[in-house]
Amino acid sequence: MPADLPSIELTENSAAILTRRYLRRGDEGKPIETIDEMFWRVAYHIAKVEESYQQDVIEQARSFYRLMASRCFFPNSPTFTGAGTPLGQLAACFVLPIADDMGRESTGIFQTLRDAALIQQTGGGNGFSFSRLRPSGAMVKSSAGKATGPVGFLRVYDHAFGEVAQGGSRRGANMAVLRVDHPDVEEFVTCKTVEGAISNFNISVGITDAFMRAVQNDEEWELRFPDVLHPAYRNFHGTLEEAEKVGLPLRTYSRVSARELFQKIVQQSHHNGEPGMLFLDAANRQNPVPHLYTLEATNPCGEQWLGPYENCCLGSINLNQHILEDGSPDWEKIRESTITATRFLDDVVDANAYVPAVPQLREAALRARRIGLGIMGLADLMYASGIRYGSPEGQEFAAQVIEFIRYHSMLESIRLAEARGAFPAIQGSIYDPANLTWQPPQPLQPYQNDWGRPEIDWDAVTQGILRHGIRNAAQATIAPTGTIATVAGCEGYGCEPVFALAYIRHVNDNGRDLQLTYASPAFEKALVNAGIDAETRQEIFNQVMQEGTCQHVEKLPEAIRNTFVVSADITAEEHVRMQAAMQAFVDNSLSKTINFPAGATVEEVATAYMLAWELGCKGITVYVTGSREQVVLETHSTA
Ligand code: CDP
Repeated sequence: MPADLPSIELTENSAAILTRRYLRRGDEGKPIETIDEMFWRVAYHIAKVEESYQQDVIEQARSFYRLMASRCFFPNSPTFTGAGTPLGQLAACFVLPIADDMGRESTGIFQTLRDAALIQQTGGGNGFSFSRLRPSGAMVKSSAGKATGPVGFLRVYDHAFGEVAQGGSRRGANMAVLRVDHPDVEEFVTCKTVEGAISNFNISVGITDAFMRAVQNDEEWELRFPDVLHPAYRNFHGTLEEAEKVGLPLRTYSRVSARELFQKIVQQSHHNGEPGMLFLDAANRQNPVPHLYTLEATNPCGEQWLGPYENCCLGSINLNQHILEDGSPDWEKIRESTITATRFLDDVVDANAYVPAVPQLREAALRARRIGLGIMGLADLMYASGIRYGSPEGQEFAAQVIEFIRYHSMLESIRLAEARGAFPAIQGSIYDPANLTWQPPQPLQPYQNDWGRPEIDWDAVTQGILRHGIRNAAQATIAPTGTIATVAGCEGYGCEPVFALAYIRHVNDNGRDLQLTYASPAFEKALVNAGIDAETRQEIFNQVMQEGTCQHVEKLPEAIRNTFVVSADITAEEHVRMQAAMQAFVDNSLSKTINFPAGATVEEVATAYMLAWELGCKGITVYVTGSREQVVLETHSTA
């Protein structure tokens, strides 16, 4: 590692987490690298692919190192653990196809289970659509028996994953999706609350526009599946829509009330936070490669729609490190970080060793070269800028930031296409220069505020694509940043608001319950700047510690109260509107939870679901405070 590179500055807590999760260890379990050496290992290993593009590896590695060591950008955790190590697998998430066939060589039920287990061992999470599996009880010709059905196989998968620990430091997250018109959907909706519940999967119902309209109009809803006894079914492994296209008849298994089914889903989410909803048509309207596949599933946390065998390497710009002295966004620095980060992620596509035993993974990755650049610390930037998360102004602010990042990421992706070539599957995609159907993204509402953002010229992007194509079929994703935001020292994860301004965190320390107290540094700074003395500050913090929020603290100046909102202070509608405002500029999707206060009704949750669909969100996850028994992070009053 070059001696002149700066060291990273981390809090004690961040350094401890990083050391535990990311440092390489020798045979005795002791770290064999320092924290700075870890960053250099990652920077160098990713930059090494620049060799094949005739670039100076060391110079590029230095630039990647500076980007990470300044905490301006972090890739997802697997890149830290996998780059330059024997593991070599760098992506957080994958989607695997499951065909309605036990013995099929690839995509068969047990072949996919094997592929998924191998991915899990490398620290990657998997998403699956179970929609192509025939309903339980349907005929199985070969054995003249009755089919197990998607929920039965989901249990098989769940059990298997329970036994496979994920790549050393991380344990498997998985996502199961079932379409809302699948005959077994009602069993699926409740599968996590019944006995022998599924514990290694998040579950989401794949919702169609037709279903949401049927709910609005209070219509009957058909649960259907292709006729498995029809001769054409034997070699058919497609979607419901494809069955209709090839003339394979659909069999209606039952008719239900769309509203009652919707109500069932909402009720479960209200009680349990699950299932979530994934809006299939919204996702497919923006599918960049519709000539390759229809999108049917996402990764475990829902922010990444992927085709069969695709992965996405995620990375997040830390907005907390892009704030000017006066608290406003440092646009120029965001631009610079975006450019380097885009190049970094494009290099990751080449540097990733994937899982050699599942060769389809590399193939799929290189074909579309998807990257997922997002953010963390949006809430930090909003605190500093004095903008209330959730307010109309806050929605616009978030949209302006995300639009800016997407714009510069696309420009860089076009420059990379010019130098290295467009993604191989560009022909027939929405970015095909010979038939460009991609349209520049637009804000949900016309902008009304000026936060000093430099001008954006989307026409330059269109012209660039027409001339050079684009290097990456997808560019933007907002990840949960569960680990990396903690290491980077952000107050707000991903695009989420801050959870609590002050709280007590329970940590299991070798069986002992350790209580750590936390107080928001940004809030503290605002109190100091407002001239509030130390004694009053302490009083304020003591009060905030009880509830997590400062909204009831009388001694606060109004501007501080208005800015320093936490998740529970924001209405569900505001949460949804924030999500939709950002989704408009994110071509993949984003990880966001719509929080409800304890006591929220099922109807309120239903309204949020409907609004999310109407505003063009690609999915929705809700959480009603207190509805799940185990809450790791809790404020003092509920402890
Ligand atoms: O912060 P970090 O990079 O560790 O990850 P994240 O942003 O919280 O999660 C990104 C993605 O990694 C998730 O959406 C999952 O697909 C995957 N993941 C997983 O499979 N298992 C986990 N325990 C955590 C994340």
